[in-house]
Amino acid sequence: MPKRPSNEKAINELREEIRRHEDLYYLHENPEISDREYDELIEKLRAREEQSPQLITPDSPTQRVGGRPAEGFPEFAHRRPMLSLDNSYSIEELRAFDERCRKLAEGTAPDYVAELKIDGLSLSIHYEDGLFVRGVTRGDGSRGEDVTANVRTIRSVPLRLRSGAAKVAREIEVRGEAYLSRKVFERINAEREEDGESRFANPRNAASGAIRQLDPAMVAKRRLEMFAYDALAGERKPFATQWEALDWMESEGCRVNPNRRLCKSIDEVIEFCNAMELKRDKLGYEIDGVVVKVNSTALQDEFGATGKAPRWAIAYKYAARQATTQVLDVILQVGRTGALTPVAVLAPVQLGGVTVSRSTLHNEDEIERLGLRIGDWVLIERGGDVIPKVLKVVESKRTGREKKFQMPERCPECKGRVSRPEGEVLSRCVAADCPAQLIGRLLLFGSRRAMRIEGLGDALAEQLIAKKIVRDVADLYSLKLDNLTALERMAEKSASNVLAQIEASKARDLWHLIYGLGIRHVGERTAGILARHFGSLERLGRATVAELDDIHEIGLTMAQSIRDWFDDPGNARLCRRLREAGVRTESEKQTRSGGTEGNERFAGKQFVLTGTLPGMSRDEARALVEASGGRVTSSVSKKTDFVVAGAEPGSKLDKAQQLGVAVIDEAEFKKMLG
Ligand code: IVH
Repeated sequence: MPKRPSNEKAINELREEIRRHEDLYYLHENPEISDREYDELIEKLRAREEQSPQLITPDSPTQRVGGRPAEGFPEFAHRRPMLSLDNSYSIEELRAFDERCRKLAEGTAPDYVAELKIDGLSLSIHYEDGLFVRGVTRGDGSRGEDVTANVRTIRSVPLRLRSGAAKVAREIEVRGEAYLSRKVFERINAEREEDGESRFANPRNAASGAIRQLDPAMVAKRRLEMFAYDALAGERKPFATQWEALDWMESEGCRVNPNRRLCKSIDEVIEFCNAMELKRDKLGYEIDGVVVKVNSTALQDEFGATGKAPRWAIAYKYAARQATTQVLDVILQVGRTGALTPVAVLAPVQLGGVTVSRSTLHNEDEIERLGLRIGDWVLIERGGDVIPKVLKVVESKRTGREKKFQMPERCPECKGRVSRPEGEVLSRCVAADCPAQLIGRLLLFGSRRAMRIEGLGDALAEQLIAKKIVRDVADLYSLKLDNLTALERMAEKSASNVLAQIEASKARDLWHLIYGLGIRHVGERTAGILARHFGSLERLGRATVAELDDIHEIGLTMAQSIRDWFDDPGNARLCRRLREAGVRTESEKQTRSGGTEGNERFAGKQFVLTGTLPGMSRDEARALVEASGGRVTSSVSKKTDFVVAGAEPGSKLDKAQQLGVAVIDEAEFKKMLG
């Protein structure tokens, strides 16, 4: 029987593995595993060290407060150690923290301050007589790197505190979290890709890379920002409470995150944590949880710290959004246009509260960019949108048995020919009767934004196509009750419901029909514009490329694609059959636009949307403008009539003010809409 490895051997192996990940994280800003997975490794090591305490060495990763100082910057010893936080991953753990605090506070319930845990890197900013003199990274918690010139480039770090600073102390230290907004993060990654460099896995790594740039001019370009969360006078906290410290920093011109709450009980803290989790994706920056702190400074001092973290604070971490897993296979999905989309089949893994087992790889170029092979281990992430994406390949896990993905010459669904036209990223199945494409077309036609045929889902569409009862969307209108009841899982009641839905769809307005035909490049918006402009399917079908191209918002590619679609004899026949079946092919009213029953209140007006609107999403606002005949553009110019500004509006607002364009808020916008 094989001998179980000794605890010592397991400890040494774990330490080595952790150190390798630390180097990847801190020195190369190129992690292979998520924070949660890193924490789990540390916990595993800690558990083993507890079994054999004689094996604990001072240089074990469990004994360290933070990362290693980077080379290239002078070191600076922190006046008060920059501790890290203990983590909690459940409400029960938060309640246990509350219990501990009550015990330490001898039975009284302390107030807590709940703040967002910004996902960046902590900085210590020093002021003397109110003037910025130094910026230091956290480093290993007791010594950091002096990155003054770089910190100076962070616009949200005031170079001079406002007047009241001197009253508090001559020397003041503000601590906070430097971070990159999602937008800037995306920009940096796009630039890196263009330069042939690898993408940063997350904004935190990009921020930490930015602050360690040796050239401050490069740092300035990275547009780092900071939220302040602590104030010190030497080793001492100068305020009686954390809440006061936050307010004071704000009054001195520091940027303090507005999402914070003074809580009288742990229940209030929990409420805040839940509310913020819902808001998480709407913030312009990444957070990974909430930091809960005992409000009273006197109590904080009383509670003290264990080696690594204070007893008076805890981080409540949201479900991890990154994980590593293995690519078991790469399969191809055939869309309604015949596009073949490669999809990674993953070993199932928990991510942000759901089990993930697939991730789109978009196209061959993306597979190439990632350097991904079947059998590879990959780091995946699930962002605000539910679809997970592959961030990178973990090359160190390669065994040599991984296989390259090869686009097949034949469609996996119908064995039709596959072609990739020059200059296009997608390969397509060119067979006209490919069942996967037919199913896709039926599903689009029946979808909510198109002809809204409820009950026409995957299962029904698949059967109708497989049994050749339906060959195109016009065939739907000659379906009989018998055709449907003969299918699996289709009782008479559901069959007649589906038929009623199909009948009702005949009266949908023209733009729904145009959208439902699935003409390449014609989305809902374009369908609305076309319906409004031509008023009937026949007139649209007769339009020349030049006529189409003349329409505002219709470009040449779109125009050509529309013309090509109607030039196809099969499609021309399809339109005729739809009309003969009684489907409305005329617009109900020429003034209607895609989407909502609209008016022409905003006819000819140009809008720009910026910032987060309190009561509606950008898409909703856009739909409202368009339904009233207006247009939404992405940048502000002299032609812009209105800028609708919400919270954190960004540079578009500045531009509007420079150009004297009217700026309105959501309330005014709604008033204008009537
Ligand atoms: S308080 C002893 N407040 O989280 C108190 N930290 O995991 C430690 N962080 O090193 C810091 N947002 O980099 C605090 N509102 C916040 C924070 C925050 C982010 C970071 C900070 C710290 C790490 C601990």
